[in-house]
Amino acid sequence: MTNQNGKVLRSEAWFGPRDLEGFLHRSGLKNQGWDEDSFAGKPVIGIANSWSEATHCNAHLRQIAEHVKRGVIAAGGFPLEFPTISLGEFFLAPTSMLYRNLMAMDVEEMIRGLPIDGVVLLSNCDKTTPAMLMGAASADLPAIIVTGGPQLKGNWRGEELGSCTDCRRYWSELRAGTITQAEYDSMEEAIYRSPGHCMVMGTASTMSVICEALGMTLPGGAAIPGADSRRRVFAERAGATAVDLVRNNTRPSQLITQEALENAALSLLALGGSTNAIIHLTAIAGRAGIDFPLSKWDELSQRVPVIANLKPSGKYLMEDFFYAGGAPAFFKKILHLLHEDCPNVNGKTLAENVADADCHNDEVILDPNRALYPDGGVSILRGSLAPDGAVIKRSAASSNLLQHTGRAVVFSSPSDLHNRIDDPDLDVTENDILVMQNAGPIGGPGMPEAGFLPLPRKILAQGIRDMVRISDARMSGTAFGTVVLHVSPESAIGGPLALVRNGDLISLDANEGRLDLLVDDDELTRRRSELETANQTSSNGKPDRGYMHVYNRHVMQSQHGCDFDFAVGNTPVETHVEFEGG
Ligand code: FES
Repeated sequence: MTNQNGKVLRSEAWFGPRDLEGFLHRSGLKNQGWDEDSFAGKPVIGIANSWSEATHCNAHLRQIAEHVKRGVIAAGGFPLEFPTISLGEFFLAPTSMLYRNLMAMDVEEMIRGLPIDGVVLLSNCDKTTPAMLMGAASADLPAIIVTGGPQLKGNWRGEELGSCTDCRRYWSELRAGTITQAEYDSMEEAIYRSPGHCMVMGTASTMSVICEALGMTLPGGAAIPGADSRRRVFAERAGATAVDLVRNNTRPSQLITQEALENAALSLLALGGSTNAIIHLTAIAGRAGIDFPLSKWDELSQRVPVIANLKPSGKYLMEDFFYAGGAPAFFKKILHLLHEDCPNVNGKTLAENVADADCHNDEVILDPNRALYPDGGVSILRGSLAPDGAVIKRSAASSNLLQHTGRAVVFSSPSDLHNRIDDPDLDVTENDILVMQNAGPIGGPGMPEAGFLPLPRKILAQGIRDMVRISDARMSGTAFGTVVLHVSPESAIGGPLALVRNGDLISLDANEGRLDLLVDDDELTRRRSELETANQTSSNGKPDRGYMHVYNRHVMQSQHGCDFDFAVGNTPVETHVEFEGG
């Protein structure tokens, strides 16, 4: 296949030449049973598969890949499936986020190195989707993403459950003594009962809708359950679309634009989506060469109602969202806020794609005039405790705590919290603010989802289920509560969070976007010099080899998406090359 300049597809550089190199490349496919007619002169579509038994949300992607292949072949292309690193939330220690950038590099370099003309990205669990989008944006070869879809609703004794919002809710009840261990154990099979990602509006669900808002997946694909046959039909369509993307030389850089990123951010806000996705979207923007600062979120959040009535902010689950019309119906309800002309991988604009979308359940996807929250699900906070910003998910918080001043109860790390939170002698009341240090990008390391600090058992026993909690960590998108996250600069690099001591007063005003440590400057200066002395005398126990060597030196703070400083931007792969074969 040639373009208008007479250049041929890049895959021809591998499979075209009648020389030793071409001989070896063709042999590598014939060795797997392919006839030369199956691939000669056809667009080669890579299928980057993050299937893994260690990532249960992605464990069905091998089947999905087979359906992508059908679509590629039917459209006249040749599929070439290859594995990528896979990042599962449940099994990966210390946290999957530590490896997101590693996976993004893997995806980028495999796209760059393999004999492919375009790529279908198969992702699902939280970090796999942003990692693939980041890698694809940097390589800038024609690409489409196919997520594996959400799980079906959990059902325990007739009660619909969502992972992992309800695992957390019942965990608090177990700790409060209102259910038994046996009852809690019996939920394990009842909640995780089908292929797919967590089915509340957590990070994976948020990122799936973001894929659609960015135009990087076909319309309607975000919410089809993993167990639904329509997910496989969708995968087949995506395979065919990938061939079209190559034929038209449509690249991620034509889709991931400033306007599309704003559509994605507006969607996240109107979903009451995961705060993690703020970090991921910032990183994806960076890979596309676009600065997407926290101030942008300030600006956008003020005009977006939360209209997705989904847990953890609302009541329903992704299966309900799909039956209600999914992302197209959702976009249509906020179309007046979105950039309507942004293109999709199918070649149509957003407005064209949602023109015929109907909402089948106005209780799940609300009309803006009946919004769950009228003014945005997320607030950006700044102040003396977070000079470079912090985030709070207002839609999942207790409204009576959004303006609160309280006494700090400080934990120096996640392990310190783990060891002391249930100490009967812990000096804590329901009006205090729980503060955790050293859980940011460097301190974690990897910025673990430790920001959903558990309430002390003795507070739970009083019937209290929420307190203000503050850290430089992230929080699972499935969690809830008045939780301030992503405090920047993080404590491990000397941010003001490191200076907080037990008994200090902290003022949170989410309505005004403020987070302040009410301690006078002289005292803070004294504490800072004490801290610097302590840091100079303590040995840094961080490993200084391998991946951690790179990570510790190059990871950026949360307001920059926690990407590596050297990975920002893109270096487009040539889609067509001069053909030198004879
Ligand atoms: Fe994979 Fe929740 S564990 S999305």
